[in-house]
Amino acid sequence: MIREACNRLHSKTHHQGAPMRAIVTGGAGFIGSTLVQHLADAGDDVVVVDSFTDYYAPSEKRRNAAQWRGAVELVDADILDLDTDSLLGEADVVYHLAGQPGVRSSWGMEFADYTRRNIAATQKLLESARRSTRLKRFVYASSSSVYGEPAEFPVTEETSTAPFSPYGVTKLAAEHLTTLYAHNFGLPTISLRFFTVYGPRQRPDMAFRRFITSALNGEELVVFGDGHQQREFTFVADIARAVHLAGTTRSEPGTVLNLSGGSTVSVRDVLDVLAEIHGAPLRVSYGQRVDGDVRRTGARTDLARLVLGWTPTTALTDGLAAQYAWCAAAKATGELDTGRAAA
Ligand code: NAD
Ligand code: UGA
Repeated sequence: MIREACNRLHSKTHHQGAPMRAIVTGGAGFIGSTLVQHLADAGDDVVVVDSFTDYYAPSEKRRNAAQWRGAVELVDADILDLDTDSLLGEADVVYHLAGQPGVRSSWGMEFADYTRRNIAATQKLLESARRSTRLKRFVYASSSSVYGEPAEFPVTEETSTAPFSPYGVTKLAAEHLTTLYAHNFGLPTISLRFFTVYGPRQRPDMAFRRFITSALNGEELVVFGDGHQQREFTFVADIARAVHLAGTTRSEPGTVLNLSGGSTVSVRDVLDVLAEIHGAPLRVSYGQRVDGDVRRTGARTDLARLVLGWTPTTALTDGLAAQYAWCAAAKATGELDTGRAAA
């Protein structure tokens, strides 16, 4: 498949010239707001759609949005309540990052939010995208969680998908929808499987944010399970760069790519690096592993290099130091603990 992609793409070109009109759904969130800044800096005309869900403190997302200082248009609405035909009819690219994230909280009654925000919202956008005569690219934020617990590592895009959490099921369902609109209607879609993203503005339910917050507050942090679980963590600026490339580089409709950070490490390894950055030992306790949490993630990104010319460039030590500095600054202004610190 990699060779096929290579043959198809030998004539790839980048859209150049006039500014792109880009829609970023979920643009007030962690990854979305980083992407918006990146696109605005590149000169794109950006419209953000975000409904400021209360999965974590909406005030934190308002602060993310405040960084743009009026340079970006904000549509404060739920995708499911919006006239998406009009919106997408005037866009060159859609970066669809809105969704209900979080692996460990996707059980029970919460699952309704996952189906609504991940599957139904994506299907609605795809219908509007299909009707748009202007749209050149539909970029979908997929997830490493589509793989579940694969038998072999590192995974490639051809490794079979078998999610291990309800969240993963909804992300895979939306990815399948995205791809089938490409195959049925030629919609120029590309799905990007992000591997555990970290960095400034990270969501308050995620590991690094919780670890750093505990360290800064002199509190005990809790590792879920034995700490030997592994992740290929990916720095948010590397992700934003790849997502932008996906929106501006020609690719076969229905393309699916892994985006991962370059090295797989354990949670214990991360804590060693964090203790060095913190300059003091961390207080660590070990609790129960959590349902839905996979033992390991790790991917090859050869296809992303081939299709987008992308490779990750941020080492974990540098990315973690950047996130630590961001958290320390937020603590200094009393803005670190406003999010929901859910498991
Ligand atoms: P986030 O919660 O910070 O951002 C998602 C944003 O979408 C939020 O601001 C929320 O208010 C908005 N939103 C949700 N449903 C909406 C709707 N129906 N209409 C309008 N806005 C809506 O999460 P994030 O970590 O930035 O993740 C962004 C995307 O990337 C998600 O789709 C997530 O599944 C995916 N992803 C994230 C990671 C990661 O490590 N953070 C990894 C893989 C995939
Ligand atoms: C992350 C995101 O939260 C998902 O939205 C995303 O889809 C997924 O990555 C992905 O790659 O697809 P996760 O890998 O669970 O999910 O990310 P973290 O919250 O950073 O957790 C990493 C590891 O640390 C997990 O094993 C988790 O159990 C552990 N952890 C987390 C702790 O030990 N303690 C904590 O307080 C929080």
